[in-house]
Amino acid sequence: MKIIKVKDYESMSKKAAFILASQVNIKDDSVLGLATGSTPLGMYKEIIQIYKERLIDFSNITTFNLDEYYGLSGKDHQSYRYYMNQNLFDHINIDKQNTFIPNGKTDNPELESNNYDKLVEEKGNIDLQVLGIGSNAHIGFNEPDEKFASGTHLVDLNEETIKANSRFFNSLDEVPKKAISMGMRNIMRAKKIILLASGIDKAEAIKNTIKGDIIPEVPASILQLHPDVTFIIDEEAASKL
Ligand code: F6R
Repeated sequence: MKIIKVKDYESMSKKAAFILASQVNIKDDSVLGLATGSTPLGMYKEIIQIYKERLIDFSNITTFNLDEYYGLSGKDHQSYRYYMNQNLFDHINIDKQNTFIPNGKTDNPELESNNYDKLVEEKGNIDLQVLGIGSNAHIGFNEPDEKFASGTHLVDLNEETIKANSRFFNSLDEVPKKAISMGMRNIMRAKKIILLASGIDKAEAIKNTIKGDIIPEVPASILQLHPDVTFIIDEEAASKL
């Protein structure tokens, strides 16, 4: 496990973008695992900038996102498909056919989940996985639980997560209560993982993840078992280490 402590959100975003851009440059047909939420927004902005300077080519890149709200279509402005298009895919030369996000509108979440896992395997698994972390230490939408979930699955989001995500919606009632999320298998099979965290709200989760026991009540703690994981965390997120 490697820990890179940086000053603030901007330095975290720059550092993460540099690692992601290097991955794409070193292996131009990389499979990238991507996250949504507030944390990677700065990284995506940096990536777009690097792309505009023509230092990076996404034409052979494949991406898999960690999760999607259950019940939202990709056209919904709150969906993660919409977020990815808006914040990254529409600005780079990636072939959208090679960008995968679970279908939140499926009427068969189990089949959708199994197919998603199969597809990740068919593509040779993830080369570089980008993760954010919830203040309850969830990764993807793998919430604290009695056991680690292995495959992609339908998740009941917990109160804390629904409340945290309500900032993107008009009201708490509008926040979907379920999501389809990758499980730990795809995440842990990624050849390399970077986890980004910024702000005091993440300090406790970061401490428990890095210093605590490996337990499903702290989902991100499983990363202690990964051979190539780098935490890129700012001063506030690192303040309890
Ligand atoms: C998003 C995801 C989540 C977020 C986490 C942190 O695709 O999988 O695990 O990374 O909820 O969200 P932010 O970055 O908004 O604090």
